[in-house]
Amino acid sequence: MDLASLSKLAPLSVAVVLGTRPEVVKLAGLIRLLGPGCRLIHTGQHYDESMSKVFLDEFELERPHVSLAVGGGSRARQISDALLALDGHFSESRPGVVVVQGDTNSTVAGALAANCNDIPLVHIEAGMRSYDLRMPEEHNRVVADHLATVCCAPTEGNAANLKNEGIPAHRISITGHTVIEAVAEKLPTSAARADLLGRYGLQPSAFVMSTFHRAENVDNPVGLEQILRALGKLSLPAVLPLHPRTRRRAEDYGLGSLLRSIITLAPLDYRTFLALCAESALIVTDSGGVQVEATVYPRPLVVVRDSTEYPEIVGTFATLVPPSGDIVAAAERWLERMPVAVEELSELPNPYGDGNASARCLEAVEASVKSASPD
Ligand code: UD1
Repeated sequence: MDLASLSKLAPLSVAVVLGTRPEVVKLAGLIRLLGPGCRLIHTGQHYDESMSKVFLDEFELERPHVSLAVGGGSRARQISDALLALDGHFSESRPGVVVVQGDTNSTVAGALAANCNDIPLVHIEAGMRSYDLRMPEEHNRVVADHLATVCCAPTEGNAANLKNEGIPAHRISITGHTVIEAVAEKLPTSAARADLLGRYGLQPSAFVMSTFHRAENVDNPVGLEQILRALGKLSLPAVLPLHPRTRRRAEDYGLGSLLRSIITLAPLDYRTFLALCAESALIVTDSGGVQVEATVYPRPLVVVRDSTEYPEIVGTFATLVPPSGDIVAAAERWLERMPVAVEELSELPNPYGDGNASARCLEAVEASVKSASPD
């Protein structure tokens, strides 16, 4: 496919709304393909430099054309502040189409703003379902899917979820997952990875990489304590880059002493994060995106959640363990099978596509602009 010739969109006609670190990673490929057609709108949901600017710079994205500075706050406040600000912007300068990605509060605000202004909406990473209605993300993704003119579903299974909810086939495009391209582009070479490990005093396959930030895990003192205790008990040292939410909660709940048995780091840039994950023995996480990323390098995962919107990898790349379950036992089962387990994972086909998802998403964007124009 000749990517350079794909985008024939009018300048700034595609409003790409994002607000969090993973949205930058997962939308970077599409934003680049859109070229001058892209109007980048950052809600400001993530506002620390390490959670936002570092990622925009790393993917060589321009400064956002519009920054809304929504910041932290309750879910209702983040959504309503972003919605009102987007509504004002769209009524002054109407884009031809709005693109949102995933399941964050910024995603749902962008989707509602498009809907309120009768602008076609493309939802990237559509059709994912955990069927766990305690997660705000589950509500956000259902709303975005049902408001979308075109749903870009990563897998056949995601497309089937949408059809089961009554979304007609002509509104669904199966694209693969855009994060596969982000990993392919940003995963450092093995020499650079060795260098990065050295900087952190780590040995290859001799540590467990971990990330925790989900509200249902870290906003609950009992759950967070169980997770931190488990990380401290593993047979290999656990490395934990601390999301601002997790850092704050550990302080609020007086769990600082448990962090001392873990190697905690500040939030990492994407290349360093990928390097450490790819060189770890195992990943223990509640992240969504990491579940896809780990299929590329590959590494086994213990996903500490009651449910996952990535069922494709459960039983192969991943073991799903509830936060109250035996995280240590699940991790040790993987560690006992190293390095054979990684060799076996390397043989598996990737369930998230061939690394051309952004180009397919671009086609969906162009088609939705065409179908909306009067001629
Ligand atoms: C959000 C998404 C989640 C996604 C995650 C990626 C929702 C409902 N959740 O969760 O799906 O996986 O982003 O990280 O949208 N904070 C800072 N600095 C920052 C960003 C956040 O201090 O740069 C603080 C906020 O003020 C807030 C807390 O961290 O107190 C949580 O941030 P928030 O944006 O509400 O949700 P995330 O946990 O990041």
